[in-house]
Amino acid sequence: MNIQRSKPLYILLCWICLHTALFAQQPERNPFSQNSSAAQHKTHPVKEAVYGHKAMVVSAHPVASQVGAEIMRRGGNAFDATVAVQFALAVVYPVAGNIGGGGFIVARMKDGKTFTLDFREAAPMLASRDMFLDSAKNVIPRLSTHGHKASGIPGTVDGMVQVHKKYGKLPWKAVVQPAIDIARAGVFLTTREAEGLNEVRESVIEYNKGKHYFLKPDSTLWRAGDNLVQEDLAQALERIRDKGRDGFYKGKTAELLIAEMKRGGGVITQQDLDAYSAKWRTPLRGKYRGYDVITMPPPSAGGVGLLQMLTILEQHPLKEWGVNTEKTAHCMIETERRVYADRGEYLGDPDFYNVPMKGLLSAKYLTSRMASYNPDKATPSTELGFGKDVRAYESDQTTHFSIVDASGNAVSLTTTLNGGYGSKVVVGGAGFFLNNEMDDFSVKPGAPNMFGAIGGEANAIQPRKRMLSSMTPTIVEKDGKLRFVLGTPGGTTITTSVLQNILNIIDHSMTGQQAVNTRRFHHQYVPDMVRAENGVFTPEVEAALQRKGHSFRFTTAIGKVEIIVLRPDGTLEGAADPRGDDAAAGF
Ligand code: GLY
Repeated sequence: MNIQRSKPLYILLCWICLHTALFAQQPERNPFSQNSSAAQHKTHPVKEAVYGHKAMVVSAHPVASQVGAEIMRRGGNAFDATVAVQFALAVVYPVAGNIGGGGFIVARMKDGKTFTLDFREAAPMLASRDMFLDSAKNVIPRLSTHGHKASGIPGTVDGMVQVHKKYGKLPWKAVVQPAIDIARAGVFLTTREAEGLNEVRESVIEYNKGKHYFLKPDSTLWRAGDNLVQEDLAQALERIRDKGRDGFYKGKTAELLIAEMKRGGGVITQQDLDAYSAKWRTPLRGKYRGYDVITMPPPSAGGVGLLQMLTILEQHPLKEWGVNTEKTAHCMIETERRVYADRGEYLGDPDFYNVPMKGLLSAKYLTSRMASYNPDKATPSTELGFGKDVRAYESDQTTHFSIVDASGNAVSLTTTLNGGYGSKVVVGGAGFFLNNEMDDFSVKPGAPNMFGAIGGEANAIQPRKRMLSSMTPTIVEKDGKLRFVLGTPGGTTITTSVLQNILNIIDHSMTGQQAVNTRRFHHQYVPDMVRAENGVFTPEVEAALQRKGHSFRFTTAIGKVEIIVLRPDGTLEGAADPRGDDAAAGF
């Protein structure tokens, strides 16, 4: 079987891409509105599910989903598809798809065995605790989010190499090649992608030298349907195809990356690239109403937070109360507030900080944490603080894809550059964006990062330490059988979006697509307000929640959740999020 240069696949992908660019539905783009959400009730986008009997991919881009489905149609398994989709997203979805970033895999094999792979970025050796502070110990604006110092050591390529070596079936070259072909022939931009590139245009000019292909050659703005050809990236991917790990962490790409660091005052060195390794970690497992939830351990804060919230919420009759009602929303907000308060204090890279996992996940601790919960009144975050006695119980832009293959292997992968287009630095001559993941460290205790998250000692910067993440790739099973696979981008909102979709399916008996289409809300302790999608609450529920003391900030979209549900009759339901160009592809 040779899928290295498949013309029909390629033509199909071009057609899908152009069609998406020209006809994709766009939700309104104004990101924040302080108005009541009720008027927005009818404008929320929805999508239809895609069904298959063998295999399914749901990702942020239709071309990437088609690449993954095609790999499996031609005999590849979920892990081959994972590598192909990750590299395809690096080409067709540069806002978050990447080879210059990192991510997490949570996987469940057809025999029920599970594993996780942490290919999160790590701090360079020359990184230091106060590197983003001035001499008066104030945070230097933008230094941890923009430019060369903002990047951690990229982990994606090592992660893909490791997962493929252990679990892939098709040749490595075959799974990397589709991304190379697409980069070389070009990708037709969707409206969202054109707008995204236009929004970062000034930063891209500021942080990069000379012209490159993320700026149009005629200096005009990008438009939907424009073809983005990425020859430098095609060549960087060819080096990965031909040399695997060494094609990125050594040789020409490594030299170009180090040269780029030197040019812009970055601190990643060849020694950092040599030392980087993705890490296999034991998944976290929790129970929720008879289901088993398999999720990511630290350095993700997401998996711990998700299991904490599920343990608390299991004590409440959410099904009886209904979805997005006053009682359900109040109870969820108060749960989220308490769990996120603990996150800021206790979560960090477990290889550097003793995260009190048993305490955080102890049912007794979580019950004590909810002792201050008042069903009639919001608890102001200023009165709450983090849980002091946990050790006594000690025992925005990212992207996610979900894959299930014909033999039942399941992959849940969330990957990121952190902010949209990462640090805005493109590695000169290699044509890919670098991450700005250093901002996910706590650059100064109590100072919020770009997602408003605060942290302290647990997540302070140290050389080679991994920065705390919210990414929560998750798999749910029942009675030893796969039930659904899900995850989402969205910074700190990731964990609550995964939570809500689990509740939508388990408590509110929704299909995958109904769950994904349903509007969302989020609370993260500080800032003390509910971030909510327009129209998530009826005017009556919104008023009732306000009377309890909650305040709101409304937005058009929270997260982009991609779910695959294995239905009792064996059908796979692919549910792509309507908030983006996301698409499911299966057969
Ligand atoms: N950079 C987003 C996250 O890892 O949570």
